[in-house]
Amino acid sequence: MSTTAEILRDRPIIPVVVIESVDDSPRLAEALCEGGLPCAEVTLRTPAALDALRALAAERSVLVGAGSVRTAEQVDRAVEAGARFVVSPGFSDAVVARCRELDVPALPGVATATEIMRALDAGVEVVKVFPAGSLGGPDGIRGLVAPFPTLQVVPTGGIGPKDLPGYLAVPSVLAVGGSWMVASSLMKARRFDEISRLSREAVAIAARCRS
Ligand code: 3PG
Repeated sequence: MSTTAEILRDRPIIPVVVIESVDDSPRLAEALCEGGLPCAEVTLRTPAALDALRALAAERSVLVGAGSVRTAEQVDRAVEAGARFVVSPGFSDAVVARCRELDVPALPGVATATEIMRALDAGVEVVKVFPAGSLGGPDGIRGLVAPFPTLQVVPTGGIGPKDLPGYLAVPSVLAVGGSWMVASSLMKARRFDEISRLSREAVAIAARCRS
């Protein structure tokens, strides 16, 4: 199995998408690929999410994960639909254990040092820090991870393109998650050209930061 660190190593940005209609999946896949960002965390927050995840995963051009996963049962359903990684807003032993059973990389969320310690105890090496913006941004991340030198983090929540350089400059930041390039307003208006443009812009910023 690939680890979370392995699948994110060359993917510094994870688009976090809320899909309302399964019919939007092919166009979204195309837009993300055109933008050079062939990856998506499909949040299980809408009735269409699982079918949309399945349709997106079938496109094969996009690495698709499931987001907002809170239970082991959701892990089963997401993996059955084609999710290649599983993201949670918080830390759940049950979710992490089921991911391990199914050999699927887990990216559990943390917001405190106590939660990081629980994650490390469960053998997790990469965590999502959520909601990163409200936790003090890049400086907040630096403070939070200081006692955990081996930990890698994926800040998510309240992040926009102008914030990327600050986050990517933090050594423990493996990747950054965010919905700005696939915002609900863009999805609802089917502005796939704009999704490609914002994706391309994000990729360019990340490339400058990581070069
Ligand atoms: C998530 O589920 O990870 C967040 O809702 C994404 O946060 P953002 O919409 O502020 O980017």
